[in-house]
Amino acid sequence: MAKPKRRYVCQACGSISHRWQGQCPDCAEWNTLMEEAPATVFSAKHDLSGGGRAIDFVALDAPTPLPVRRKTGLPEFDRALGGGLVPGSAVLMGGDPGIGKSTLLLQTAASIARGGGNVVYISGEEAAGQVRLRAERLGLADASIKLASATSVRDILTTLGSMESPDLLVIDSIQTMHSDQIEGAPGTVSQVRGCALELIRYAKSSDCALVLVGHVTKDGNIAGPRVMEHMVDVVMSFEGERSHQYRVLRALKNRFGAVDEIGVFAMEGQGLAEVSNPSSLFLSGRDEPLAGSAVFPALEGTRPVLVEIQALIVRLQSGATPRRAVVGWDNGRLAMLLAVLEARCGLNFSSAEVYLNVAGGYRLTDPAADLAVAAALVSALSDRALPRRSVWFGEVSLAGEIRPVAHANLRLRESAKLGFDSAAGPTNGAGKEGKGDFPDYRPMSSLLNLVDRVVGSS
Ligand code: TYD
Ligand code: MG
Repeated sequence: MAKPKRRYVCQACGSISHRWQGQCPDCAEWNTLMEEAPATVFSAKHDLSGGGRAIDFVALDAPTPLPVRRKTGLPEFDRALGGGLVPGSAVLMGGDPGIGKSTLLLQTAASIARGGGNVVYISGEEAAGQVRLRAERLGLADASIKLASATSVRDILTTLGSMESPDLLVIDSIQTMHSDQIEGAPGTVSQVRGCALELIRYAKSSDCALVLVGHVTKDGNIAGPRVMEHMVDVVMSFEGERSHQYRVLRALKNRFGAVDEIGVFAMEGQGLAEVSNPSSLFLSGRDEPLAGSAVFPALEGTRPVLVEIQALIVRLQSGATPRRAVVGWDNGRLAMLLAVLEARCGLNFSSAEVYLNVAGGYRLTDPAADLAVAAALVSALSDRALPRRSVWFGEVSLAGEIRPVAHANLRLRESAKLGFDSAAGPTNGAGKEGKGDFPDYRPMSSLLNLVDRVVGSS
């Protein structure tokens, strides 16, 4: 019999190699390769072509009832989830420490419990007393939540197995859980993966919605194995700057709905308050135009949100390497835009430090932000303010063209509602309606038009 080949499986990304290495060649994590039982021994013992049970095939159009979603009672949370929690599904909630994950889930748990749902809240991070104190401060102490502080998955599943299965199970957080069937301290890759697997199996078999809180590493990924993201049905990220009041709840993956809707909350003394009309939240409210500031009508799912983009350019006298720092936007995208402005418009940023900031702690993901960022940069470089009450949107290509973006009309309509009367965007972006409705729409075909408009305007 052929010698069984050794298999080493990366505990972080699941990739397989046939020799041990210190670093996984796929995800570049260190010390994650572990030997697993060779496949050939199994296949030698079991002839896989006979003796199994026949499985049934079904047609794609076979009638399947749509999952009945359970409303959380927090419309913003429901919106980000795509309509509510699906029974038997697993949701992973990631976010920086102190951003408000526990607060949000306690409020959700209380709201479902008040609506007659059976809710279990397991905290592995805080003692039950601490959670109770928070509930009292939030005015939620009367909700009938089954609260416990525990970290052993075996204890948790034994307890849940001996009672009526809950409608919602919250585990805060998965990094504090441990299973005695797996080696390693809580928070290690194998523990996190194993515990998540057991809890998800319970959720699927008992039709209870499971929410796992997950920590986030310094670079913003959910700590622990990437495979955890594959195991759950929904991955949500709770974002914002801790020093700012506003928080955005975003779905990064959703097996039951779209991932482009966001929920917006404000952290107040009484916990998280919902913000149902966020379109003007991230504007500074200043009326005087300033050089380096541009307003961008962003679109989150179906909701427009107007955000202010600020750029600062500092010329360096010495030959030191200039810094580029970005808050709220993609670093690589800024480098690309600077390169396009240099190559296509002849602007010189090479000896200048460039700082870019999206106001209000907001994180931009909409590709249409390119033109607004370019407008802020050109305005900062030339030290000329952009026209009063103007908005900018459009995607910029490497050739310096302004490309059309989705829902230009929606962006313009919302901008008009908030008192903006001048807009610049792609040539065919606004369509007839948009242009007709909007008082002053300046179609732009390339970044050169932008430079003309900013530098050419007195
Ligand atoms: P928390 O939910 O504990 O964050 P996480 O679970 O994501 O680590 O939220 C902690 C922060 O929220 C804390 O720094 C204080 C703030 N906070 C308020 O401002 N108001 C409130 O009513 C509550 C409960 C918390
Ligand atoms: Mg917490």
